[in-house]
Amino acid sequence: MKQNGHVQLIGNSTVITALKAELERVARSDAKVLITGESGVGKEVVARAINAASARANEAFVAVNCAGIPETLLESELFGHVKGSFTGAYRDKPGKLEMADNGTIFLDEIGEMTLRMQGLFLRFLETGEIQKVGAERVSMATNVRVVAATNRNLRDLIAQGQFREDLFYRLNVIHLVVPPLRQRREDIPALVDFFLRRFAGPDLPTNGNGNGHAVGNGNGALGGNGHAHRYTARAISPAALSALCEYSWPGNVRELENVVERLVVTGRREVIDVDDLGPEIRTPSSIAGRPRKERRKTVADELFKKLVDDRESFWTSVYPMYMNREITRGNVRDLVHKGLEEARGNYRIVLRLFNMESRDYKRFLNFLRKHDCQLPFKEYRQ
Ligand SMILES: Nc1ncnc2c1ncn2[C@@H]1O[C@H](COP(=O)(O)OP(=O)(O)OP(=O)(O)O)[C@@H](O)[C@H]1O
Ligand SMILES: [Mg+2]
Repeated sequence: MKQNGHVQLIGNSTVITALKAELERVARSDAKVLITGESGVGKEVVARAINAASARANEAFVAVNCAGIPETLLESELFGHVKGSFTGAYRDKPGKLEMADNGTIFLDEIGEMTLRMQGLFLRFLETGEIQKVGAERVSMATNVRVVAATNRNLRDLIAQGQFREDLFYRLNVIHLVVPPLRQRREDIPALVDFFLRRFAGPDLPTNGNGNGHAVGNGNGALGGNGHAHRYTARAISPAALSALCEYSWPGNVRELENVVERLVVTGRREVIDVDDLGPEIRTPSSIAGRPRKERRKTVADELFKKLVDDRESFWTSVYPMYMNREITRGNVRDLVHKGLEEARGNYRIVLRLFNMESRDYKRFLNFLRKHDCQLPFKEYRQ
C-alpha cells in the first residue's frame, strides 16, 4: 500500500514556511505527532508530507478516519478480525495497525473515537499488541509511527470527560498547528494556481495565472456536445483572484479546491472573472451583526483562549493575524489587557502565558510599543 506519491504542501506564507521546516525536523524522528487545525486546512496533507520526508517514505502510509464509522467497525478496521467473528466476516482480515508496521498510521479525527476505542488504542501504544476481533491470541506491531489529527479541542474534550488525558499526552509529543486559510491569505494565489492546473489539465501555460489574458490553446470549447458556450477555464483575472484572496474561507483549502473545480467545470469562458464567482465570494462578508464593543471583546476572548488553552504561540497565531489585518489593534490591546490581568502586571509572565520564549521579551515589547499596544503594567499590580 504505497501511496506516498506526490505530496505537495503548497504555500509560502510565513506560517506555512515555518510549518514545512518543522515538519522536516519532525520527519527525522519517530515521535508521535498530533496535528490540529480547522476542517479542510490540510492536516492530512501535512501527515503525508511528514511520512514522505521520513525514512519510512517507501513504507505504508495507512490512513484511518475515526469519525462516522461505528465503534465495532473501527475496531476491526484498526485491529483486524478473524473469520466468523461477526456476520459478514468471511475471512481473516489484517487491521490497519498491522498493515502500517514499519510505516505510518494516520488517525484522522481522533477526537471522535469512543472512550472504549481510546482504551484499546492506548493499550496498543503501550504494548504494541494487536488483538484481532474474535481472536484468541494477540499479534504484535511494534514499529508503527503514529500521526493523529483532529479539528476538535482535545483539552475541552478531556474536560468534558470525552477524551482520555493519558492518551492525549501520549499522542501530543509533537504538536503541529495548521492555521486556517484566512490567516495566511498570501497562500491563496499559489493554491488557486495549483488547483487550476490540476482541474484544467496539464497544458496550462506557466503564466496562466493572473495575467488577465485568455489562453487560446484551441481546445477550450467543448464543441459538438450541445454546450456550445462552455469552456474549460484556464486562468483567472486579477480582479477575481483578489476577490478569492479577500474571502474568509470558512471551509479552508478544501472549500477553495471545490470552488476552483466548480469554476473550471462550469466555466463560461477561459478566463475566470469576478462575476463567475458565487455571491458569497464576490461580496465581501460583513462581519457585522453584534454591537461593536461586544464583538471586540469576543475576539480578544478567542485569542486569549487560543494562546492560554490551546497553547499556541503569540508569534504563530496572533501576530500573523494582526499583520494580515485579520484582527485589529483594539483586539490586540484587549488581549494584552487580559494577559496583564492574569499576570498581575508582569510582562514576563504574559510572555510565558502567550507561549513565547523568554529571549523574545524584547521583541514582544518592541512589537507592542511599535503598534501602540503596550499598556501600563502598574495598573495591574495589586
Ligand atoms: N497546502 C496545501 N497544498 C495543497 N493542497 C492542499 C493543501 N492543504 C489542503 N489541501 C487540499 O485540500 C483538501 C483538504 O485537505 P486535508 O484533507 O488535508 O484537510 P484536513 O485538515 O484533513 O480536513 P478535515 O478536517 O476535513 O479532515 C485536500 O484535497 C488537500 O489535498
Ligand atoms: Mg482530514
